[in-house]
Amino acid sequence: MQVIIFDDAQQVAKSAAEWVAELINKKSNPVLGLATGSTPISLYKELVNKHKTGELSFSNTTSFNLDEYLGIDGTNEQSYRHFMNENLFDHVDIDKSKTFLPTCNQGENPREQGLAYEDRIVQAGGVDLQILGIGANGHIGFNEPTSSLASRTRIKTLTQQTLDDNSRLFAADEFQPTLAMTMGIATILDARYVLLMATGKNKAKAVKDMVTGALSAVCPASSLQLHENAIILLDKEAASELDDQEYYLWADKQNCKINLEFGLYHNY
Ligand code: PGA
Repeated sequence: MQVIIFDDAQQVAKSAAEWVAELINKKSNPVLGLATGSTPISLYKELVNKHKTGELSFSNTTSFNLDEYLGIDGTNEQSYRHFMNENLFDHVDIDKSKTFLPTCNQGENPREQGLAYEDRIVQAGGVDLQILGIGANGHIGFNEPTSSLASRTRIKTLTQQTLDDNSRLFAADEFQPTLAMTMGIATILDARYVLLMATGKNKAKAVKDMVTGALSAVCPASSLQLHENAIILLDKEAASELDDQEYYLWADKQNCKINLEFGLYHNY
């Protein structure tokens, strides 16, 4: 794991945007894994700015989102399709027919839909760079604690903690879905690079469990310890419970020196 600690959330977003831009500018048919939630909104703002200044074109990009609610459709303002349109897709030149979310509409077989999503990712060449947030309970995507580390795209029942954490986004009389389709942990681990963003004090415990806790389904994000290219971008607050923060800052300086001397090397 490469843990990089920044002074604030804005720097986390800027760094994440550099990773995305590097992939898109380097590869002719990049495949991005995308996330929803509060954390990546500032990343999407950075990407929209880069597009508006002519620095970045998404015309060849294919995207796969981590998850989508069940029981509401893409026109619903609470859907993750709507979130992606609002925060990114409507403001850049991405071909929306190449933007995918793991949906399962009424009457569709969730197992078949899950398999079809996995197939679609493989057909696209696999995810090059998967953006992730982390839940206060350590979830990635909607892989809640005790999700199988070998899981694939499927339906998950959300935990009460996740429902409570996300209830701030729903009006009191609004339907809040309790089920979602989500990429599995094994699906996420298949990505060539994973880039996890975490900001704020309420993520500090989950970040500590992810980076230095036991590899365990109790903290699904700890599965990233198994990934060859897991980059963890943190602000100071999210990093605040990590032992040895000095070490991560020092190691990052060494990496920057190596990159300066030999150039960036990302094996997409
Ligand atoms: P948040 O959610 O960015 O809204 O905190 C992250 C997550 O649940 O993965």
